[in-house]
Amino acid sequence: MTVLIKGGTIVNADRTFRSDVLCEGDLITAVENNIEPPERATVVDASGQYVMPGGIDPHTHMQLPFMGTVASEDFYTGTAAGLAGGTTMIIDFVIPNPQQNLLEAYDSWRGWAEKSVADYSFHVAVTWWDDTVHADMRTLVQERGVNSFKHFMAYKGAIMADDEILVNSFTRARELGAITTVHAENGELVFRLQKEIFEKGISGPEGHPLSRPPEVEGEAANRAIRIAEVLNVPLYVVHNSCKQSLESITRARNEGQRVYGEVLAGHLLIDDSVYLDKDFNVAAAHVMSPPFRSKEHQDALWRGLQSGNLHTTATDHCCFVAEQKAMGKDDFRQIPNGTGGIENRLEVLWHHGVSTGRLTMNEFVLITSTNTAQIFNIYPRKGTIAVGSDADIVIWDPEATKTISAKTHHQNVDYNIFEGMTVKGCASHTVSQGRIVYKNGELMVERGAGRYIDRPPFANYYDALKIKAQRSEPAAVNR
Ligand code: URP
Ligand code: ZN
Ligand code: ZN
Repeated sequence: MTVLIKGGTIVNADRTFRSDVLCEGDLITAVENNIEPPERATVVDASGQYVMPGGIDPHTHMQLPFMGTVASEDFYTGTAAGLAGGTTMIIDFVIPNPQQNLLEAYDSWRGWAEKSVADYSFHVAVTWWDDTVHADMRTLVQERGVNSFKHFMAYKGAIMADDEILVNSFTRARELGAITTVHAENGELVFRLQKEIFEKGISGPEGHPLSRPPEVEGEAANRAIRIAEVLNVPLYVVHNSCKQSLESITRARNEGQRVYGEVLAGHLLIDDSVYLDKDFNVAAAHVMSPPFRSKEHQDALWRGLQSGNLHTTATDHCCFVAEQKAMGKDDFRQIPNGTGGIENRLEVLWHHGVSTGRLTMNEFVLITSTNTAQIFNIYPRKGTIAVGSDADIVIWDPEATKTISAKTHHQNVDYNIFEGMTVKGCASHTVSQGRIVYKNGELMVERGAGRYIDRPPFANYYDALKIKAQRSEPAAVNR
């Protein structure tokens, strides 16, 4: 398919300029003015609109088996909902059960993801440790296109990684040229607080944020950062929700440490009053970890994005319908943790970020696409409008408005955490692999069209060893 996007304004992370964009096959083949439409090209008139790299959501959990159930959104519906909102790639998570072989878990997730309609990749969680995990991490990096390993510092008794696992896995990641990532909450403290709060007679969703205060997150973030510092490995802290974790990241970055921070659209825009809603379904629909926080934390998170101490925005898209949330009707600890948002991330961030002046359009592109592509080593294939890059593009109508609702969204969940929010600025078209897959409300996706995207390791220890070996070869011959 050939698509010519004419008359738009390109917004990349580094600059804004007027240009046409030609997509041939799955690549961008020309970015210049006055491109003549090739024969049989589909021409999209983008005048008055912005042409930006498709969003990359670095944190999703499609059809995740979790807390006794399975997330309602699968790879087909989830990636389709993403395309409807301008997100053209996700990085999801392989999460092995403790003792489950990493490669076996990876193969399961690869199988589930085959129905994706947009490109995808995987972080792999390290939830336990032995020699096979050590060996499988190498296979994943060198033969399966994985360059990031995730560690859940919470969820005690399930997938929690203790310090011993963190130290072993971070050390191995460094050897392999991979980046480490953490869900930062002190799982021991959460476990203790949950028990105390439940025993006091608080069994409803309001107990959820009480059992996971910001200090619990700040402690874990700081611990992971300091472990990464000692072991000299880059670290990416997912879903920062509070001042405490942001302060740890900021301090480490000021000391020159390679630490990156992610923030969720939900944590920027939704506060903790949702847990006091009298309707269990509403309060439970917001149960996710870390929980939504008070306004002062939201302000700090926006400042984190503005100052460059937070780098990426995500959704942690992990949906459970009311019936699933009701598993915790009598005990908030049993409410499956997770919320959605993949379809709305770009529009809520544009409306509350760009339109308010908090972010420039270029910064918007940086935090919705480019930084993720760079941090996870798929740039410039993804994350920019440039010749040779994948033709993953969102055409953005800054004048379009819409009111977000579960009644109209494409996400396979019966609740929308942004319900009733009116936003100005939306995707009019989404182009994925050079094909128009979304156009003014209409999705035209193909099951299975999404591709697995390999993410190579970073220049690393092995490269250094190889270079050393090459250098010493002639000397060996001379001898
Ligand atoms: O509540 C959440 N965030 N659920 C998904 C798993 C995780 O912790 O990211
Ligand atoms: Zn998490
Ligand atoms: Zn998550």
